[in-house]
Amino acid sequence: MLRITVLVSGNGTNLQAVIDGIESGFIQGAEIGLVISSNPNAYSLERAKKHNIKSLVIGKANYPDIKERTKALIDALDEAKTDLVILAGYMSILDSKIIEAYRGRIINVHPSLIPQFCGKGFYGKYVHEAVLASGALETGATVHYVDEGIDTGPIILQEKVPVLEGDTVDTLAARVLKTEHKILKEAVKIMIASLSEKKGDR
Ligand code: GAR
Repeated sequence: MLRITVLVSGNGTNLQAVIDGIESGFIQGAEIGLVISSNPNAYSLERAKKHNIKSLVIGKANYPDIKERTKALIDALDEAKTDLVILAGYMSILDSKIIEAYRGRIINVHPSLIPQFCGKGFYGKYVHEAVLASGALETGATVHYVDEGIDTGPIILQEKVPVLEGDTVDTLAARVLKTEHKILKEAVKIMIASLSEKKGDR
């Protein structure tokens, strides 16, 4: 069994998609060992609790010092014997020490067609606001590896989503989220297959 740690900050519908993917048997050979939230009030923490998944809060509020926060994150990932880290609506930037320690084993879901509408300042609803303001006729969702840049790592999966007439940030975000859930589950499946193979080689 490979072990997944999911990093979250908010509602956690992407976390829920991975939980459902595992519970339905779509994702096999993996379990979520730990959920880490940067935000003590995130609904994601309730979702973890409902499914008996251990959770921790590690964020700016309880670890204001970046070095201590990074150490707490690495210790928690190591202690949970994490094979794969999923950033699922995680609204903080990971320190390069974490990227180094888990290189090739951290993935992120982003609500646009990277390289469009991504990078500094493009997160959550700001992405959809920018898409609507640009007049683009399509947007989408991307799952990619996390490297030292912001939304710059190699793309694993990407899928287009139409922008419809009369769309608001909320209607567009809801349509994109459905695609995020779908490609995140698929990407996790791909990652688990590839990581299991590598683990078997060791
Ligand atoms: C999702 O749309 C996710 O792609 C986005 O925040 C939302 C979280 O929803 N993440 C980012 O913008 C990170 N750059 P969720 O908490 O319901 O999964």
